[in-house]
Amino acid sequence: MTLQPLPLLVCLLILAACDGMDHQPRYDDYEESSLFSDGKALQHPPEGTVSRSAPAQTAALQTRPPMDRALLERGKERYDIFCVPCHDPAGYGHGRIPSRGFPTPPSFHSERLRNVDPRYIVDVISDGYGVMYSYAGRVPPRDRWAIAAYVKALQLSQDAPERLLSAEDRQKLAEAQP
Ligand code: HEC
Repeated sequence: MTLQPLPLLVCLLILAACDGMDHQPRYDDYEESSLFSDGKALQHPPEGTVSRSAPAQTAALQTRPPMDRALLERGKERYDIFCVPCHDPAGYGHGRIPSRGFPTPPSFHSERLRNVDPRYIVDVISDGYGVMYSYAGRVPPRDRWAIAAYVKALQLSQDAPERLLSAEDRQKLAEAQP
């Protein structure tokens, strides 16, 4: 069998292209570059640039989603990922990271934090607070509301008024009290 020159050439070209794509010259974000007068590879967007996602993000931050079970479940899942390492599963601030030297966060069950609006928790997640850094890059706006709802649920779980308990739980409480 004789090899046809054209298919062979096409194959060689494809292979050559693959190799070239593997080793393209590029800049990393904070590298120096002689291309621009300020000597930086990473340039500011031109003045007046509007992010296409910014209006949707702002709207999602301003609108508190309706509280339902799905939101709380999402909040618990995200809280377990992003907040438990410091704030611990119940929100007392005894997470793994503070136990290794990071400043200890305040308990969510203090009088002051029990009374904050969920929006305040959304703002702390968005902007950070003191030594706690912002989670804006990792937690999208709707998830911030979900986490805030879950933190409010955690607070209620540790400080529920007796009238909210089921008859069965009230009975258990009465039995437990000496
Ligand atoms: C790396 C550890 C760490 C993680 C992770 C973390 N926090 Fe914090 N958080 C802190 C510390 C420390 C403080 C206290 C900061 C200070 O007072 O300087 C704090 C404070 C707070 C406060 C109280 C602000 C106030 O008014 O006192 C809230 C609310 C809060 N965090 C929510 C969250 C939520 C929600 C998450 C998850 C999205 C989260 N934090 C993740 C460490 C953390």
